[in-house]
Amino acid sequence: MKPMKVALLGCGVVGSQVVRLLREQAADIVARVGAPLELAGVAVRDPGRRRDTSVDPGLLTTDAEALVTAPDVDIVVELIGGTDPAGRLVLRALHGGRSVVTANKALLAREGAALHRAAHAAGVDLCYEASVAGAIPLLRPLRESLAGDRVTRVLGIVNGTTNYVLDRMDSTGASFDDALAEAQALGYAESDPTADVEGHDAAAKAAILAQLAFHSRVTAADVHREGITGITPADIANARAMGYVIKLLAICSRGDRHGVGVRVHPAMIPRSHPLAGVREAYNAVFVEARSAGNLMFYGAGAGGAPTASAVLGDLVAAARNRLAGVSGPPESVYAALPVHPMGET
Ligand code: HSE
Repeated sequence: MKPMKVALLGCGVVGSQVVRLLREQAADIVARVGAPLELAGVAVRDPGRRRDTSVDPGLLTTDAEALVTAPDVDIVVELIGGTDPAGRLVLRALHGGRSVVTANKALLAREGAALHRAAHAAGVDLCYEASVAGAIPLLRPLRESLAGDRVTRVLGIVNGTTNYVLDRMDSTGASFDDALAEAQALGYAESDPTADVEGHDAAAKAAILAQLAFHSRVTAADVHREGITGITPADIANARAMGYVIKLLAICSRGDRHGVGVRVHPAMIPRSHPLAGVREAYNAVFVEARSAGNLMFYGAGAGGAPTASAVLGDLVAAARNRLAGVSGPPESVYAALPVHPMGET
């Protein structure tokens, strides 16, 4: 059985868990794909750094460019994050006919349409389930299961770090700084946690949700955004006294008048509301569709192993498609609906 060769770009919190799962789940993967998935190489910035996984040192390289264009590589898994050099490497991989699996929300929120065009032109898959809400299967249901419905609103908690911070401030009286340091230690936060606490991370995820839910060209720049740095212990105490809890919400809606509106901001939620019970770094997303009605997705939204689970799911799907000589459903992010700048519809 000829193995599918996988190039891994980045071996941090998520990448090291992908390596572990590829090893631990090897027998199941062969059964589910029809071929083994074998690492062709792991591109890292510093091969000497200690990692909490036993990557074969012989696989480590600092030359990501050479790895994504190596002739035997079938699938590239991009876990570097950010838009450069990740975007350039992903495009190289797609143009070269490799399928791509990525968790890169910033890249998809900015260049989603161009990347989809490149994947479509090459007849390969571009999968990014791990980019939004960690382990929760959410993008595939939006893209495939609800493809025959009309989604009208997507609403939820999509950033684990800010949910963790707000939850600790509310439940233990922890300070903002202490709660954020805990979230960083647990591996939830971005390398620069400003992206979490200022709402950039949630805005990128909201843009991706709106792209898939409404078949629209929303980018992170279209998202009205406010983070949680202005929330004080007094705000939290006042909300608590009134029977409310403060959560950072992403709200994507499709109206009949203005088109699409996407916004991210802190909101007061009654303690009886299901979103109020979303604790620690968990995420929860409501999807409202005309025929399906209201759906709720809930689970671990951040962290190495949960996010790696979503990456592995995409890897299996992309590998199956390559073996079958097909690529996934065509993406419909090109039908531009007007996007309202204030996030209203
Ligand atoms: N920093 C992100 C979060 C990681 O806290 O949700 C998962 O995207």
